[in-house]
Amino acid sequence: MSLFAVINCSQLVTLAGSQRPRVGEELRELSIIENGAMLIRNERIEQVGNREVIEVFITADCEVIDAGNRTVLPGFVDAHTHPVFAGTRAGEFELRASGATYEQIALAGGGIRSTVRKTRLASEDELVAAGKRYAEWFLRCGTTTVEAKSGYGLTVEDELKMLRAIRRLNNETPLSYVPTFLGAHVVPDEFKGNSSAYVDLIVEEMLPRVAAENLAEFCDVFCEAGAFSVEESRRILLAAKRLGLKLRVHADQLSLSGGSALAAELGAMTADHLEQADESAICNLQSAMVQPVLLPCSVLMIGSQRYANARAMIEAGLAAVIATDFNPGSSPVASMLLALTLASTQMKMTPAEAISAATINAAYSLGRGKEIGSLEPGKRADFVIHDCDDYRELAYFAGLEHPSAVYVGGQLVVPGEKMTSS
Ligand code: NIG
Ligand code: FE
Repeated sequence: MSLFAVINCSQLVTLAGSQRPRVGEELRELSIIENGAMLIRNERIEQVGNREVIEVFITADCEVIDAGNRTVLPGFVDAHTHPVFAGTRAGEFELRASGATYEQIALAGGGIRSTVRKTRLASEDELVAAGKRYAEWFLRCGTTTVEAKSGYGLTVEDELKMLRAIRRLNNETPLSYVPTFLGAHVVPDEFKGNSSAYVDLIVEEMLPRVAAENLAEFCDVFCEAGAFSVEESRRILLAAKRLGLKLRVHADQLSLSGGSALAAELGAMTADHLEQADESAICNLQSAMVQPVLLPCSVLMIGSQRYANARAMIEAGLAAVIATDFNPGSSPVASMLLALTLASTQMKMTPAEAISAATINAAYSLGRGKEIGSLEPGKRADFVIHDCDDYRELAYFAGLEHPSAVYVGGQLVVPGEKMTSS
């Protein structure tokens, strides 16, 4: 049995509050405890309070971690990533720097399809090895849970290979993975001009195998011109729902594709991207309380100026989430800290709103709002000591890794300098 206390937190940013996603003004309420402290027993938080309150519980068998007057937050929950793939697309990054667009590169056979070619050639072991490197990046940037999509296999066996790699990464690294099946990422080359046959393969073979092996909690579809139409997306998502999977949708990213309306119609947990979402798309999301997942790093990295209209979404009462969209093409960014910076500078979310969106709201969007996303008694002790005095500095001192120490389930997984004081 282990028992320890964390003391001397300049701000303990608890995000304590009602047991549901935060909307409207609630997004600005972080429930900060100045000179905060926490008591951790085994892998869970037992008590949270200011130093005087917690000191009463510090007995002889209790280790004490001195946070050194730093800011402590829940681990970030990154609710949209594609963290398993072979190779990189640094060449496409260079092409974009020379004026090509993300869509032009995809039309010329690059983009998602080029990662599919490489991922099909890779073994499960190779995907796990590459994934472990990225897991370290996430942890070092203060992320303790990621949603993780398949979608670079696009055959029955290659999609299962990706999902098994995600399962192994969940078991073999300290990072927690929430698996999502994204067989409908693009129509693979061998089905060119015959997308309905590929949709048949997803519905009749891939989804039943994924469900039988219990390899995914969610099903996602890239609903976009050049990927899957609204009708095709509906067919896939309905089949997934019948098998007990929860739904997410890549919606209204490059064009107003109708993805938001579909997400609302089917009761999806999230609609993601939404750069092109207009007032009526936002209204649709609101009618079914679909959580918008905003991905500013992919806007930055494809060199676009058009960020999602976060303010309109918050004003409409939506429980906004921000995530990195980590992937080898549109967003080679594993840092939630950069997502926070862009949320404030480009989408005009206050630092507090962005932190709520990156923790508690993200946790709810993954069905884990009662387990992670805030620092409250009973929750898993996933927390990060950041080397700053004030939570606003996380996004403000941009481009830095702030974490000094990262804990998952009460275990130190990214040690910084030694902080144990007794
Ligand atoms: O979320 N939009 C579709 N999928 C990814 C891009 C993946 C890639 O470029 O490899 C996204 O941006
Ligand atoms: Fe994505």
